Amino acid sequence: MRIVIINGPNLANIGKREPQWYGEDNFDIFYSQLKQTLATKEVELDYFQSHCEGAIVGHIHQCKQNGVDAIVLNAGAYTHTSIAIRDAISAVALPVVEVHLSNVYAREEFRHKSMLAGVCIGSITGFGLCSYQLAVEALINKITLY
Ligand code: DQA
Repeated sequence: MRIVIINGPNLANIGKREPQWYGEDNFDIFYSQLKQTLATKEVELDYFQSHCEGAIVGHIHQCKQNGVDAIVLNAGAYTHTSIAIRDAISAVALPVVEVHLSNVYAREEFRHKSMLAGVCIGSITGFGLCSYQLAVEALINKITLY
């Protein structure tokens, strides 16, 4: 099984950026531990980050072409604005879980609206780096069960 985590704009420095919202834990350390754990379960995990909407759209299509089974997507601020990313998710018809480090519903009103949620299989928001892990586990269970 192949799963890709995609992070959007301003998510290259998790652990340093606004720790009151995004925590102090380093994403790279978390990711390499998660990748190792998943390898023992025969799940291959990859990672892509870009500040650019078009690059994220391109990578979603590339996932489909490369036979990836599912995507964990934190599109950052594009969550609230991007019809292009929404259309890419629809186009590839892969299971995508929307994740957020912070609880977007406890923040400004403009963060309460997701352009992406309607085309994702589910959303996990507010659990810091655990949001990614919960999403991966949900995908593994869903893909295995259905
Ligand atoms: C975020 C929430 C978004 O509203 C924000 O623009 C981000 C990070 C999160 O992980 O909590 O960049 O996606």
